[in-house]
Amino acid sequence: MRVELLKQILVTGGAGFLGSHLCDRLLASGADVVCVDNFFTGSKRNVAHLLSSPRFELIRHDVTFPLYVEVDRIFNLACPASPIHYQHDPVQTTKTSVHGAINMLGLAKRVGARIFQASTSEVYGDPEIHPQREDYWGKVNPIGTRSCYDEGKRCAETLFFDYQRQHSVDIKVARIFNTYGPRMHPNDGRVVSNFIVQALQNDDITIFGDGQQTRSFCYVDDLIDGMLLLMESPAEVTGPVNLGNPAEFTMLELAESVLRLTKSSSKLTFRPLPADDPRQRQPDITLAKEVLGWRPKVSLEDGLKKTIEYFRSLFEGNKR
Ligand SMILES: NC(=O)c1ccc[n+]([C@@H]2O[C@H](COP(=O)([O-])OP(=O)(O)OC[C@H]3O[C@@H](n4cnc5c(N)ncnc54)[C@H](O)[C@@H]3O)[C@@H](O)[C@H]2O)c1
Repeated sequence: MRVELLKQILVTGGAGFLGSHLCDRLLASGADVVCVDNFFTGSKRNVAHLLSSPRFELIRHDVTFPLYVEVDRIFNLACPASPIHYQHDPVQTTKTSVHGAINMLGLAKRVGARIFQASTSEVYGDPEIHPQREDYWGKVNPIGTRSCYDEGKRCAETLFFDYQRQHSVDIKVARIFNTYGPRMHPNDGRVVSNFIVQALQNDDITIFGDGQQTRSFCYVDDLIDGMLLLMESPAEVTGPVNLGNPAEFTMLELAESVLRLTKSSSKLTFRPLPADDPRQRQPDITLAKEVLGWRPKVSLEDGLKKTIEYFRSLFEGNKR
């Protein structure tokens, strides 16, 4: 899909999983891309293939500090996204979400740029309604070990809407649900990468709880389509808009698909559920369908095949 874009685009967290796919798509559309990252969870390897492009610039920078660049669009993705990484330094995680949002919103205000926030389904916490619609306010523990991420992202949303009300900044807020695909971090503890890595190494596949908790998984290409459409939607479409794949699978179903597609001899092992782990999470994407004409197209089977292929080549490359 091609979406008409302006020329100068800043992507924070651009060397991460989603950010690097976004940079690929933006460059392919003809834009100039400034990719900013502190390489906490992202890596140069994710954007190495873009470095030779004269329209691509990579800057090592931490978004908790101000940044001065002239751009028309800002995609604010900088933030570790998996519990292992965001709990590593929880104070820094909150700072990244909150100070990062303040710095990027300040930049957007100064240069008149439109700004997109990569928010998360975690703002719904352990939801009491299912599937989650954007008008649900969520059930979030403010003092738990996941709070640095959940509350950081909630506060960032608040800042986005206050900058819009107070300073007329042109904002777009997407609530992203579980997304997977090539360039996920192999050791980030996210369920899709975990299962694939364990299966490819014929290690036991770890299932938390009884495996009956469900998740919905969106393939990265679908998600990037949704992000680009939201960014270029009419100004009155501010969001928050849920972006995710509503097809729901239990952890057991996911593990069985991964075992089948990798032809692995791994066994399943069961461990206790971590604190505050939601039982169910599924997006209601009615709004995205209505205002963006967007819906995910890639099946779990096809997306898993591409992701497995990526991890296989990553491990083979590491062996050489
Ligand atoms: N992948 C998902 O399923 C998912 C779901 C919901 C929301 N999101 C959001 O999307 C965004 C991207 O997630 P991802 O999955 O690509 O994760 P990721 O960890 O691969 O990418 C985050 C990037 O931000 C960088 N970063 C972290 N702190 C930074 C800082 N202080 N300054 C500059 N760069 C910093 C990291 O180095 C990394 O490259 C995050 O904001 C995340 O919260 C992702």
